Amino acid sequence: MRALVIGASGQVGAALAARLGERGHTVVGTHHRMPQPGTRLLDVTDAAATERLVAEVEPDWVLCPAGLTHVDYGEDHREEAFAVNRDAPVSAARAAAKRGAGFVYFSTEYVFDGTAGPYAEDDPTEPLSVYGLSKLEGERRVEEEDPRSAIVRTTVAYGPEPQGKNFVYQVLRRARAGEPIRVPNDQVSSPTYNVDLAAATVELIERDFHGVIHVAGPAILDRHAFALEVCSVFGLDAGLVRPVETAALGQRARRPLRAGLAIDRARLVLSTPLRAPREALTDMRRVLETKG
Ligand SMILES: NC(=O)c1ccc[n+]([C@@H]2O[C@H](COP(=O)([O-])OP(=O)(O)OC[C@H]3O[C@@H](n4cnc5c(N)ncnc54)[C@H](OP(=O)(O)O)[C@@H]3O)[C@@H](O)[C@H]2O)c1
Repeated sequence: MRALVIGASGQVGAALAARLGERGHTVVGTHHRMPQPGTRLLDVTDAAATERLVAEVEPDWVLCPAGLTHVDYGEDHREEAFAVNRDAPVSAARAAAKRGAGFVYFSTEYVFDGTAGPYAEDDPTEPLSVYGLSKLEGERRVEEEDPRSAIVRTTVAYGPEPQGKNFVYQVLRRARAGEPIRVPNDQVSSPTYNVDLAAATVELIERDFHGVIHVAGPAILDRHAFALEVCSVFGLDAGLVRPVETAALGQRARRPLRAGLAIDRARLVLSTPLRAPREALTDMRRVLETKG
């Protein structure tokens, strides 16, 4: 297959591009501000440029992990959040549909309000933030635009990534510097290894899956417990990790607290294993040490 990955310079996109390559598919990836080896420049909010690239690449699938992912920034930049998370993927899905290609949109557990997690695909949505709402509207509009669309909801993605931004890197940097880390102990979720997320997504497109599916790790735990697991696997001082309530962090956007994604559908549909933190973090440590 030929695949276009819009946002291949980000955490999920880079893992997707790597997995597509491993599976023998042809892949073209894009960046916006952070070029990576082999990626092409695309501002996905430029609908005409996106359509031109889709026409040039002639993909069987367009995968779009590109997004405005900074939740607190999005709260104060509503228009930009909707432009990047809703309108741009909708244009890209339209361009994909025009040539009969499938489309994968990446969404989030932030479409739920976090009062009754872990959530299944058909549970009622109730976003608490601009980010969550822009993603929910993106899901709905993408589905209308391309009948061959898959909506992959995930959460707390971590693992090796080119820009080193995700939560695990943040914990590693602080702990290695001997700095205390304040981590909420009331945000419950299901951390997701990006290597598994990528492998599962590639399996979904190989199976021509359409519809909404949760792809997440199998363990439901709070951020503080997850940070302790990071320290344990990487041999760092867990005493630096201090539990704090979300309310004390003064974040701009509200977070779903009792969240997490139920993955029964993924277990039915997929053979790709979705690893729990200890096993996945051990793999991440091996990858980082191999890279030096
Ligand atoms: N990470 C998580 O925990 C998580 C959880 C739930 C859902 N998701 C969803 O999964 C997707 C991927 O997340 P991620 O962690 O990989 O995010 P990320 O690391 O922040 O990457 C975002 C990607 O989007 C690109 N991008 C941003 N604005 C763009 C624009 N205007 N035009 C084209 N590309 C643009 C970025 O390009 P540059 O870096 O080159 O500027 C980057 O490649 C997102 O849609 C996110 O909402 C992520």
